Amino acid sequence: MGRKIRAGALISGGGTNLQAIIDAAAQGRIDVDLVFVGADNPEARGLERAARAGVETFVVDYKAIIGQVKKAPDKASPPDDFNLDEIRKKQHLIPESAGRQKLEQFLISRAIAERALLDRILPHRVDLVVLAGFMRTLTPYFIDRINIDQHRIMNIHPALLPAFPGTDGYGDTFRYGCRVGGCTVHFVDYGEDTGPILGQRAFTIDEGDTLETVKKKGLELEWELYPDCIQDFASKILG
Ligand code: GRF
Repeated sequence: MGRKIRAGALISGGGTNLQAIIDAAAQGRIDVDLVFVGADNPEARGLERAARAGVETFVVDYKAIIGQVKKAPDKASPPDDFNLDEIRKKQHLIPESAGRQKLEQFLISRAIAERALLDRILPHRVDLVVLAGFMRTLTPYFIDRINIDQHRIMNIHPALLPAFPGTDGYGDTFRYGCRVGGCTVHFVDYGEDTGPILGQRAFTIDEGDTLETVKKKGLELEWELYPDCIQDFASKILG
């Protein structure tokens, strides 16, 4: 058997991109051993896809963690190696103008959740973490502990970045009246959907298209693009 990279995936929802990766790996189209699937909520339906494929799963319940910090901010205990000033300076997710309290609560609650993710992820010694519909931003606390020597976190975004960052790329593309939509795979950096672009696919938006047909066209391209970009990464690692 040929050499493979070790990868893990993080999801929040249905996991159709995850399925595309599982299938590509099973069919030998990508040199990837998928060693875990983690979710930010216990309801993520993609967890079943992972379990069916025999992949280890775990959940870090972001909603519960964030709720706890909001309820009792003074009792929140960030990880020992968390340095608030350092992370505040590095991050580009929330502007300082949002206010000190909001920013600190955001960074502390995320660091608690991200530490729980890292505790599950790091023992697997993965080459790559793929975000497959993971609807949480990641702070420099997490990113720096995965990207030790190079970019190792990949995301798929439902728009042609740098246009339409954020959570509703297809919706924003459609409502703007664009005649072309698309998807982007990029590495994750300290901003939201701002990291180096690895690949893009585009489709035309025609007269009769609706938001539903736009999403369908886009997702079908995502399922091709993501495995292709993962394989490009794997080829570079494996040499
Ligand atoms: C995709 O459109 C992806 O681009 C975005 O979230 C959606 C996830 O879909 N980040 P699925 O969970 O992979 O089906």
